[in-house]
Amino acid sequence: MEMIKRPRRLRGGQTIRKMVRETRMDKASLVYPMFVTEGTGIKEEIPSMPGQYHYSLDQFPAALEEVAGAGVSSVLLFGLPDRKDEVGSSAWAEDGIIQRALRLGKEKVPELYYITDVCMCEYTSHGHCGALCGHDVDNDATLPLLARTALSHVEAGADMVAPSDMMDGRVAAIRKTLDEHGHAETPIFAYSVKYASSFYGPFREAADSAPSFGDRKTYQMDYHNVKEGIKEALLDVEEGADLVMVKPALSYMDVIRRVSEAVTVPVGAYSVSGEYAMIKAAALKGWIDEAAVVCESAASIYRAGADVLITYYAKELAKYMDEGRIG
Ligand code: PBG
Repeated sequence: MEMIKRPRRLRGGQTIRKMVRETRMDKASLVYPMFVTEGTGIKEEIPSMPGQYHYSLDQFPAALEEVAGAGVSSVLLFGLPDRKDEVGSSAWAEDGIIQRALRLGKEKVPELYYITDVCMCEYTSHGHCGALCGHDVDNDATLPLLARTALSHVEAGADMVAPSDMMDGRVAAIRKTLDEHGHAETPIFAYSVKYASSFYGPFREAADSAPSFGDRKTYQMDYHNVKEGIKEALLDVEEGADLVMVKPALSYMDVIRRVSEAVTVPVGAYSVSGEYAMIKAAALKGWIDEAAVVCESAASIYRAGADVLITYYAKELAKYMDEGRIG
């Protein structure tokens, strides 16, 4: 039989398959999200996210050691404050949970790179991502609150800030404030293309940040749209974002692809709590091979165009990369 082109030739063994791989991954591109809480002696598993925990500060350094030990070089921090109010003032408090977690982390585990989520929803009594005006978030009144929060994170030691609120103009506001205070070198990782998604369900339980009324659709994006996502990403780059993010990841591969082709900054993808919970639940039932599915999902996110992957499976993925299962 005459057949000159046989694609299977390049799949004949592991060595040749690895040689011609189109997508290469590195654990340096993994970011691990973590939740810190007030209190002591707390290492509490999040019910809808088995394997993920709330840590009080006394437990936090050991958890950070574990992340660093797994070969993951950066973390993304979320805080659970002990008091909430209308404007979320504990988000920028000098002795706020994130600020103390940063000072502690930088002291005890300085080799990690600390990124902070900048948003008001964990800190406001109503659970929305900013100050309210009637029943909606007041965009322009929220900008100074976000800028102030970002600055307080950087002053407490954050290496990078990641605004996730989806207010218009927040990257410019944060950039200006950081620059005015001598932090021109601190990068901004903007959650630029963030959809109003049901995949955040487990996170909102974990962060106690569900809105007490309504939803986030007046600020987070409609999942029918992709051009709008490119607009958001380009706007954030213009305002000074150093990296942009698409979130969630698995249902938004087309968005990752389009955004990565439209911008010249690195693109992050956040594989969110609901994605983790789905894989974990099926794995616990014995219905899927967890490690294999985690590898396949991660590779597909990179293949779609992500340069950085934020994932609750970061520690496992670092191990799989070391073992050569993927990479
Ligand atoms: C804060 C924020 C959320 C997530 C990251 N930052 C929740 C939300 O917007 O409701 C979701 C992360 C996840 O689901 O893993 N605004």
